[in-house]
Amino acid sequence: MIPPKPAARPGKVSLWRYLRLFRQDILSAQPARLYHAWMAEFRTPFFRSFMINQPELVKKVLKQRPDDFPKSNRIAEGLRPLLGNSVFLTNGETWKRQRRIIDPAFEGGRLKDSFGAMRQAAEAMVERLHGQVGKPIEIEAATSHVAADVIFRTLFSIPIEHEIAAKVFARFRDYQRSQPILNLAAFIPMPGWMPRFFKGSTKRDAAEIRKLITQLTVDRMQAIRDGTAPDDLATKIMTTSDPKTGERFDTDEMVDQVAIFFLAGHETSASALAWTLYLMATNTDWQDRVAVEAEALEERSFAVMSKLQLSRDVFREALRLYPPVPMMVRQASCPEQFRDREVPIGSQIVISPWHLHRHDRLWDNPDGFDPGRWGTENGKKCQREAYIPFSAGARVCPGAGFAMVEGPLILSMLLRHYRVEVVEGRDPVPVAHLTVRSKNGIWLKLNRRPR
Ligand code: HEM
Repeated sequence: MIPPKPAARPGKVSLWRYLRLFRQDILSAQPARLYHAWMAEFRTPFFRSFMINQPELVKKVLKQRPDDFPKSNRIAEGLRPLLGNSVFLTNGETWKRQRRIIDPAFEGGRLKDSFGAMRQAAEAMVERLHGQVGKPIEIEAATSHVAADVIFRTLFSIPIEHEIAAKVFARFRDYQRSQPILNLAAFIPMPGWMPRFFKGSTKRDAAEIRKLITQLTVDRMQAIRDGTAPDDLATKIMTTSDPKTGERFDTDEMVDQVAIFFLAGHETSASALAWTLYLMATNTDWQDRVAVEAEALEERSFAVMSKLQLSRDVFREALRLYPPVPMMVRQASCPEQFRDREVPIGSQIVISPWHLHRHDRLWDNPDGFDPGRWGTENGKKCQREAYIPFSAGARVCPGAGFAMVEGPLILSMLLRHYRVEVVEGRDPVPVAHLTVRSKNGIWLKLNRRPR
């Protein structure tokens, strides 16, 4: 069975039609040849963009010369009201300083410290789903809930039921509906003088979220001063000094970072987990194998993660087929030559994990679900050269290690208790706005697994 893949758009279309298709869904707006081409140029009277699909070019942009290909300013268009000066939006020296403070909190040793909180969130999800057994449920709502719970528990040592956490979660949902992270403006340069319009509700939601997060951050600053702060990610980040300048984040800058941890860390994991569960429902042999392996969860310590190998391979395969961040945009800051083409300064460079992960000249069985591939020669080579669900290089996702513990842990915990089944007539259709989601949700049925 080939997992759902959006139909590609037929042949050539006019710019205006492309823009219309793009607004509906950035995946089905693209032609099928992108699964085979090494590079594609999109030329209009106003701007030029290049989608690069060749591993050497992706390596050049992300790993070898990231400073020459900064994040496109346009990605920030819709996000400033919420994210301010967060690490997701900054470039240059500011960005480097922010990463020097943030990165230590996500290093291997610290992940172990976050494990207990992640496990509690996973167990709370199993509890919550008890009442939903036997009837169709929209699983993205449940994975969103658990991913938000993980972020609050690991960052601020509070569960999602906490009054402020629950409010932030609800407001984010509204905000995301009105303001996708990957907006059209990110791909289409608009002159600086052109006014940007935000819906009143978008601005209001952003302001309310920031007010709530500020409250959490101010309280934490005080607790750090009083010596009563719990040893979690927020305390770690707020007490880390930049090794170069000795500076720490002040409250405002920390609020910006908390907003992005929440946005980047919960929507992505939620999407990945929902697709993984759908793939389990359609590949019951793999589901049963992961469930057997999950008995290892008897052991409560972090060491259990080394025993959840199948779960990890399954989650990794879901990230290949449905990378939550389907495309990333950079900007050429100097004239370049890619393959035999001139790339003028200011061109938009689009890197598409979606297309790279399904490229038919690189992957064996590119559209098939096969977690066993990671043990094959082709799978290992492609994992090194053509697999970037977390991006790569200096700007790689700082939460990658965190997500690769959280995802397999929650997957195993769920399958240990429940069997997931598809709901007839409700096959998901992948579309990309903020992250790769399903057009009408991902519907599954849960049954208790006999033990
Ligand atoms: C399955 C889960 C996740 C996926 C697939 C994912 C993917 C990504 C990708 C592709 C980027 C680069 C975006 C770009 O360059 O345009 C990114 C950046 C980022 N992610 Fe994640 N992420 C995940 C989970 C997390 C978590 C759990 C956190 C934090 C708790 C996090 C925090 C961030 C931050 C702060 C950035 C900005 C980094 C920078 O620009 O220097 N992510 N993520």
